[in-house]
Amino acid sequence: MSPLLVANGLHKSYPQGRSLWGRARPAQSVVRDVSFHVDRGETLGIVGETGAGKSTVGRMVLRLVEADSGHVSFDGTDLSTLSPASLRRMRQRMTMIFQDPFNSLDPRMTLRAAVREPLTLHTSLGGAEKEARVRELLERVGMRQDHLDRYPREFSGGQLQRIAIARALAADPDFIVCDEPVAALDLSIQAQVLNLLLDLQQERGLSYLFISHDLSLVRFLAHRVAVMSQGVIVEQGTPEEVFTDPKHPYTRALVSAIPTPRPTRVSRWPAGFPAPGPSRPATERRSR
Ligand SMILES: Nc1ncnc2c1ncn2[C@@H]1O[C@H](COP(=O)(O)OP(=O)(O)O)[C@@H](O)[C@H]1O
Ligand SMILES: [Mg+2]
Repeated sequence: MSPLLVANGLHKSYPQGRSLWGRARPAQSVVRDVSFHVDRGETLGIVGETGAGKSTVGRMVLRLVEADSGHVSFDGTDLSTLSPASLRRMRQRMTMIFQDPFNSLDPRMTLRAAVREPLTLHTSLGGAEKEARVRELLERVGMRQDHLDRYPREFSGGQLQRIAIARALAADPDFIVCDEPVAALDLSIQAQVLNLLLDLQQERGLSYLFISHDLSLVRFLAHRVAVMSQGVIVEQGTPEEVFTDPKHPYTRALVSAIPTPRPTRVSRWPAGFPAPGPSRPATERRSR
């Protein structure tokens, strides 16, 4: 069977504005010639340092950011050929979960309204059916019925990320870009959210593009891994291949930096490749 998603030769650069003397600075190329595919029911992990271009790739795949060149096809359809209306329909099948659960929900919307919104957008369900579906989705992600009338500020980061997952599931997608979905959560909460994502994948045959700076996370849940640094995929393979026999010096350095029970320090980071790190500190506020 052909892959669900194919990305071919994606490029993106951003204008840098003007210098003090009014000269246009050359555009900064942030993603160069990135190609990969994601099979049905598969997780492709993208791992690399902060600023490597991972989020830009994730957004280009969904056409939330337009690529300068290159193509993305989903289930055999080239997304660049779609009219805005067909793209909206396609978006039902492909969606995204973001890193920051505290900003991904509208603070003025109750939990019920937040999960109803994508149902209104993407389905023709009537009021009662919608309410039933909202309850079913929330139960599936582990939220309680008495949470329905509460606002985002009343929930912990882990709960907010569960709500974001419920919203992502509302349109019954086939493919989800998970962009550092647990990076902002306490370590103790991370495993719960990751296990939820894994269970949902099993139940629904979902495909994930799972973006993380954390190699051990990607190793844990990806079927295949693409290692990205400075806008380029330097290596792709199964976790086995990438983690036990890394070919690229950047991957080798990443792998030797994974904390182990008896840590081995990287003595020298390869020249010209930035070290990985979280893009923001954990901000889990409270758990209830
Ligand atoms: N909208 C934008 N305008 C200008 N530069 C951007 C924009 N989005 C991302 N960048 C730059 O592109 C590079 C890659 O960013 P990003 O894709 O967010 O990396 P990652 O997700 O791997 O941390 C960074 O240098 C970032 O500053
Ligand atoms: Mg990012």
